[in-house]
Amino acid sequence: MKLVKPSLEWKEQHENYMEEWGLDRMVPSSMDLSGFHTYEEFLVALEDRATGKEPWVPSSHYFLVNNVNQIVGMIDIRHELNEYLRTIGGHIGYGIRPSDRHKGYASNLLKEALTKCKELQISQVLITCDEDNIGSTKVILNNGGIEDDVFITEEGQMKRRFWITLQ
Ligand SMILES: CC(C)(COP(=O)(O)OP(=O)(O)OC[C@H]1O[C@@H](n2cnc3c(N)ncnc32)[C@H](O)[C@@H]1OP(=O)(O)O)[C@@H](O)C(=O)NCCC(=O)NCCS
Repeated sequence: MKLVKPSLEWKEQHENYMEEWGLDRMVPSSMDLSGFHTYEEFLVALEDRATGKEPWVPSSHYFLVNNVNQIVGMIDIRHELNEYLRTIGGHIGYGIRPSDRHKGYASNLLKEALTKCKELQISQVLITCDEDNIGSTKVILNNGGIEDDVFITEEGQMKRRFWITLQ
């Protein structure tokens, strides 16, 4: 398993992953290809996010790739928090390919992301999830998440919020 940055090389694998993901809302949303005419266009938009072009805060994006070069997961690390991220989005968003869930990949992916956070000198990492997302809650707890107050969105959705302190 390795983390790689999205690039033209991963176009086919990324499209294949999207196909398997189906109609559910893509997580992380930064990796959603729908709405782009070409892969090149997606990469330019992702670079805008990475460099913190308005309205984005600077961020890092990775694919988790297995030993046959298939993308099994995706992760997005926001380097700082704005109002939306402090209440709803958190520092990190992740998703795992549907056929590769329940194999421990998300727990490991978050662990790898926390190493990246340390390199970025983010000492307190906020991770959020929907109140009914049992899988994601376990992933966060597996990585030492300490629960903070919940946040209720304007739509009435309850977001659980967890902090992980990095030494
Ligand atoms: C949530 C998600 C990332 C979990 O990925 P995963 O690779 O299956 O997670 P893991 O295999 O590391 O599982 C961690 C724990 O959660 C449990 N788990 C995973 N999915 C679960 C589910 N749907 N219901 C209940 N428990 C679940 C696992 O059994 C495991 O339990 P354990 O620690 O007691 O062994 C994945 O289901 C996903 O991509 N969902 C859609 C996107 C999403 O919700 N992202 C998170 C946004 S905050």
